[in-house]
Amino acid sequence: MTAHIIDGIALSRQLRADVALRAAALRARGVVPGLAVILVGENPASQVYVRNKVKACEDSGLHSVLERYPATLGEAELLARVEALNRDPAIHGILVQLPLPAHIDAHKVIEAISPAKDVDGFHVASAGALMVGQPGFWPCTPYGCMKMLESIGYDLKGKHAVVIGRSNIVGKPMALMLLQKNATVTVCHSGTQNLKAMTLQADVVVAAVGKRNVLTADMVKPGAVVIDVGMNRNDEGKLCGDVDFDGVKEVAGWITPVPGGVGPMTITMLLVNTLEAAEMAPTVAHSA
Ligand code: GUN
Repeated sequence: MTAHIIDGIALSRQLRADVALRAAALRARGVVPGLAVILVGENPASQVYVRNKVKACEDSGLHSVLERYPATLGEAELLARVEALNRDPAIHGILVQLPLPAHIDAHKVIEAISPAKDVDGFHVASAGALMVGQPGFWPCTPYGCMKMLESIGYDLKGKHAVVIGRSNIVGKPMALMLLQKNATVTVCHSGTQNLKAMTLQADVVVAAVGKRNVLTADMVKPGAVVIDVGMNRNDEGKLCGDVDFDGVKEVAGWITPVPGGVGPMTITMLLVNTLEAAEMAPTVAHSA
């Protein structure tokens, strides 16, 4: 049997059409949803990601500002820029692309972003809100994975979900989101002793390690849903995920491809978060 493909491009198209409609409604009220993206240094992958984010904003009717700084930018200068954007009423979302140069404390910079504009969902206030089930911005990649599960009508209640990876950006928030939908969640990582024994029990596997072939066909329960967050290059330089797609698709019930899976969904959820930040922003009162 060959797995059904969960098409992140098609789902993104649907969700972005909704973003564009809501953005148009906001514009009609005089509010233009605005995202500020800060890129420090010349990391080639970051440059591609940032370009894609800015283009996606333009395509959906969101205003975006890209601020680029040399890798020598001081931490104090960066903090000052974040604080200025916090006060700027034309900006509803602030994204500081990671990684930052080593001399800058990324945690300090993220904590300087107003939680009301934290569209990446990386602020401790956003992470805490997710943990206790209160409203707040969800990190875009795991949020996109949840939307992919929702798109196939998958009911997580009582299902065993295995997350491979424990990063603050994907693994940990992914586990909390799955838990919130009443899945039984196992988080595996580099110290896990028998990964295959865990994944073989899984109804849902989310692979978020950043290493090729972390999940192979012999590790997957027949019919399972497999979500591949990885973004790697194979020996030929082609984009590939953490999952051995060709093998696993013969065992799984559903699978996300790379490219065309989680990647576009991450950007889509950034647009959703930015739009919602703009919808929730206090409008400036005009005196008569
Ligand atoms: N670097 C890699 N992924 C991300 C992301 O989703 N947001 C930010 N700010 N930086 C990243």
